[in-house]
Formats: sequence, C-alpha cells, structure tokens
Amino acid sequence: MLILAIESSCDETSVAIVEDENVLSNIVATQIDVHKEFGGVFPEVASRLHIENINFVIKEALVKSEKTFADLDAIAVTQGPGLIGSLHVGMMAAKTLAWSLDLPLIPVHHIAGHIYANKLVGSFEYPLMALVVSGGHTELVMMYNDYEFEVIGKTQDDAVGEAYDKVARQLGLGYPGGPIIDKLAKQGQPHYTLPNVKTENPIDFSFSGLKSAVRQLMLREAREGRELNVNDVAYAFQHKAVETLMKRVKHALSTYDVKTFVLAGGVAANAHLRENVEALKQQVGDINILVPPLWACMDQAAMIGIAAFDAARLRPAGSCDISSFSNMTL
Ligand code: KG4
Ligand code: ZN
Repeated sequence: MLILAIESSCDETSVAIVEDENVLSNIVATQIDVHKEFGGVFPEVASRLHIENINFVIKEALVKSEKTFADLDAIAVTQGPGLIGSLHVGMMAAKTLAWSLDLPLIPVHHIAGHIYANKLVGSFEYPLMALVVSGGHTELVMMYNDYEFEVIGKTQDDAVGEAYDKVARQLGLGYPGGPIIDKLAKQGQPHYTLPNVKTENPIDFSFSGLKSAVRQLMLREAREGRELNVNDVAYAFQHKAVETLMKRVKHALSTYDVKTFVLAGGVAANAHLRENVEALKQQVGDINILVPPLWACMDQAAMIGIAAFDAARLRPAGSCDISSFSNMTL
C-alpha cells in the first residue's frame, strides 16, 4: 500500500511517501527562521507559509520517491491537534488529492504519529507504554492494541517543550528553546539548585513551577549583584526537567505490565533524556525500549504515513466532510 501523508499541524510543512511502513521520501519545509523573529510560532503567518509551501512539498516528495499520483493507494493527513489554520491547509490539500484521485482519506492523530515514529526502529509488542514529550503535550500513554491509546498520566499545566521554550525566552536565548538549552546545558555545571516538582498523582507532570523557579533564580542573582551563568541555569533546568520525566516513567513502569517502552515527540531529541532512556535499558532488561532517530522526533509526515496503516484498519475512514481539530483526544 502506497500512502502520501501530509503533516502541517504547526510550523513544518511536510509530505512523505510511505510504502508498507517503509519511508520512500519525507520532505520537510521548516518555517523556523521566519518564526524566530517573533520569538515563537505566529499562527497566521504559519498558515500562510503552509499555503505557499504545500504544492511544492507534495511535488518534491513524489519526485524523490520516484512515484506519481497514479501509483498512490491512499492519502493520510494530520487531523489534529495543532494550530487550526495550519491544520486546515494540510486537510484541504489532502481532501483535494483524495477527491480528485478517488482515493481513501486517512485522518491521523498527531501524537499517534509521534508514537508510531518508533516503528522505524523496532516493532510494537503490547502492552506498550509511550512517554510523549512535545511542545504541546507531556503524557504517558498505554497501548494494548494497534492504534488504541489510553492516557494514564499528563501534565497539569505546561508541556515540557513549552517549558523549555519559555525558559529560553526568559533567558533571552531565542526560539525554539529546547535545542538551545540542550546545547548550553552540556557546557554547564551543577551550580544552581531548583526545587523538585510535586504532583498529587505520581504519574502526572507539572512544569510551570519549574519555569517560575528559573525566573526566581534569575531575579535573586540580579538582586544580589551576581552575574548569571546561563550554561549553569540551562544545566539545572535540563537536569530537573529530565529527572521529573524519568521519575514518572520509573514509577509507571513499576506499576504497569509493559513489553515495549517508546519515547515520542520533539523533546525526544533531547540528549540528556535520550541518555537516561538508554540507561533505563540496563535497569529494565526485559522491556524492549525504542527511541526514534533524531530526524523522526521532529514534526514530519513520515510518522503520519506510518501510523496511517493502522489508522486505516482501525478507525473510521475519512471523507471530504471531515474537519481538522485544534484539540483532539488520542
Ligand atoms: O513535537 P514537536 O516538534 O512539536 C509539537 O508537536 O509540539 O516538539 C517541539 C518541541 C519544542 O518545544 C522544542 O523546543 C522541543 O520540542 N525540542 C527540544 C529539543 N528539540 C526540540 N526540547 C529539548 N531538547 C531538545 N533537543
Ligand atoms: Zn509534534
């Protein structure tokens, strides 16, 4: 089955050609350089850039895969969650292709795509637990079957990627904050102490307190006339954020029966988190642990194409009547 998949939920316009879960091409037109000037994603600008890019990216994906419209068996598209204007552009392109080529339309959940990106590195044996860490989501998800998801823990406030971006903004480091803090943290030392994150449920998350604690630390150092060591702040924040994630993961793994554990979402690219998940392999020998390659942690259409194979079998088919949703349950 040859699928053309479209992902446009945020600030990347991406199209992939995926054949039986093998990625033949995956084109990503990123808008990051434009949004950097605004210090974050500017939704209206994002939608306009998706419109400018989408046709060119579709064409590029076909050319790179050496396929034509006539070879396709289905069109897959991210239905949500995300920025509504951005999602609409991908959805309209997908509906147009499905209608004009008379092909089935497969709506895919963005987070399902992030989880399924792990199929690039291994197979899913159930029960499977996913740690989903992105700019909009921080949650623990259980899967007992293909394309069936149960959220067992989630953030009570900010997502971890959002906290990275906000802390970077407080420090005047630019956007997106995750990769910048990750890089600076590698040059930092354990000099500052940040408080532990507390949640009522041991597998829920919370990051807004940690973000505020960084702000308090900055104000305190300024008040006391000390120069702030930004690398050390990055180190302290990164270590506390990853420690918070790993504590929840370890607790959840000790209470749920799990055969496969996967890391998913943009923050899965974080070096310190990846090291910690690698170390987990030694501690939980009988659980198969999967971590996507760096390129597949980011938003791209290959993950939507891979998830589409199960979505097509197990979820209602799409039609030209379906809509995009900025909020959507998994
Ligand atoms: O999954 P994603 O590309 O978009 C959403 O679905 O939200 O995730 C983007 C998030 C941003 O908050 C970005 O700062 C964060 O992932 N991120 C990172 C790293 N690379 C990207 N956070 C920490 N360390 C990184 N290396
Ligand atoms: Zn994403």
